[in-house]
Amino acid sequence: MANALGLVSSSLHSFRWRNRAPLWLSRSDKRAPFICCAAGDDGVEGHVLGAASSRSHRPRVIGMGSKLVGCGSSVPKLLISNDDLAQIVETSDEWISVRTGIRNRRVLSGNETLSGFAVDAAKGALQMAQLEAEEVDLVIMCTSTPDDLFGCGTQVQRDLGCKNAWAFDITAACSGFIVGLISATRFIKATGGGFQNILVIGADALSRYVDWTDRGTCILFGDAAGAVLVQACHSDEDGLLGFDLHSDGHGHRQLNALAQGDDDKLISNSNGAPLFPPRKSSFSCIQMNGKEVFRFAVRSVPQSIEAALEEAGLSSSSIDWLLLHQANQRIIDAVSNRLEIPSDKVISNLANYGNTSAASIPLALDEAIRGGKIQAGNTIATAGFGAGLTWGSAIIRWR
Ligand code: ACO
Repeated sequence: MANALGLVSSSLHSFRWRNRAPLWLSRSDKRAPFICCAAGDDGVEGHVLGAASSRSHRPRVIGMGSKLVGCGSSVPKLLISNDDLAQIVETSDEWISVRTGIRNRRVLSGNETLSGFAVDAAKGALQMAQLEAEEVDLVIMCTSTPDDLFGCGTQVQRDLGCKNAWAFDITAACSGFIVGLISATRFIKATGGGFQNILVIGADALSRYVDWTDRGTCILFGDAAGAVLVQACHSDEDGLLGFDLHSDGHGHRQLNALAQGDDDKLISNSNGAPLFPPRKSSFSCIQMNGKEVFRFAVRSVPQSIEAALEEAGLSSSSIDWLLLHQANQRIIDAVSNRLEIPSDKVISNLANYGNTSAASIPLALDEAIRGGKIQAGNTIATAGFGAGLTWGSAIIRWR
C-alpha cells in the first residue's frame, strides 16, 4: 500500500469498519462507567448483517445511530494581522494572503487558557442542543496543546459542571476533531446508546509552539476552540454516513514539535558523583516541511473523502458542503477541484483565523450553521489532516 508520502509501506495503518474485535463499553450506573474489551466479531446489539455486494466482508451493526444536535465556538480576543507579522519577520500581507489565504489569526494572551475557550465553545453547543451540563455522559477533548501535560478534558468537564460525565483527551493534531467525532459515534453505537450525549471539543493553541522568528511557520497558525454535541438516535436518523481514518508515522519528520532534553544538568548522589541527566520538560517549536505537507494533503485528502463517500453510498456531486481542515486556501482549492466540488459549496473561514489545528473544523462548522449557510438535513463532507501524519474524513448530516 502506498503511504502518505507516496512510498510503499506495509505498516501503514488505516481504519474503516474493519473486522476487528469490538470495544465493548457498558454503563451499569450513570456515575460509574466502565470499559472492557471482548474478542469476537459480534454486533453490539446482536444485530449484525453482512453488507450487500462489494462490502460483504464488513459487518454492519444496525440499531443505534448518532447525530449532531449542537455546536459552538470561541476564539481569543487578541488579533494578529499579516501586517503585524510583517513587523516581526520579513514578510508581507500580499505574500501571506496569496500563498495561504490567511489575513488574521487570534492568539491566547494574558491569563487566558485553552480550557477556558473550550468551555465557552462547549456551552454554545449545549445551549443549541437545549441540554443541561448534567445530561452530558462523555467529554472528548481533542487537542495537541493542553494546558496540562496530562490533558485538560477533565478540567473542561469540571468547569462545565458535567458532573455525570467521563472525560479524556485525544491527541491527533489537525485530525483530532475528526478522530474525536468518530470516536463519539463509536461510543454511542458500542453501548447501544448507553452514552446518550457526548461533547466533542476541538481546541488548540499552537501559538505556544510557534517560532515567531520563522516566517515559514509563524504566518500559518492561530488559536481557537470549537465543539459539537453528538447525541444517540435511532439508526434511521444516523448522522454519520461514512468515515475513513489513516495514520503514517513515516511522515512524522515532515511536521513535528519534539520533546527536548537538557543534558547540561546532572543529578548527583550524596557524594557528588553524577548519576544521570534529567530530561527537561519542554518541546521544540513546530518544525515543518511546508512543501511536503502540502503535497501530502492534496494527494491524501481527496482519496480519503472518496473512500468515506463510498462508505456512505454517495458521490461528491450529491453533498451539500465540503468542509476541510482550514490549513491553506490553496489546499482547499486543490482538493475541491480534484473532487469537482464547486467553490460555492466549499466552506472557508481561514482568512480570519489561520490554521487552528483541531479547532478549525468545528469553528468553521459553527460559523456556517449560525450564519445560516448549513441547514438542517444538509450533508457535509469533512476532512482533517496534519502532524503524525494523520488524516481522515467523515460524511455527516446536520441534525
Ligand atoms: N514571507 C515571504 N517569503 C516567504 C515566507 C513568508 N512568510 N515564507 C517563505 N518565504 C519564501 C521562502 O524563503 C522561499 O524563498 P526562496 O525562493 O528565496 O528560497 C519562497 O518564499 C518560497 O518558499 P516555499 O516554502 O517554497 O513557499 P510555499 O509556496 O511552499 O508556501 C507554505 C509555504 C505557505 C508554508 C506552504 O508550503 C504550505 O501552506 N504548506 C502546508 C502547510 C500546512 O498545511 N500545514 C498543516 C499543518 S497541520 C498540523 O498538524 C499542525
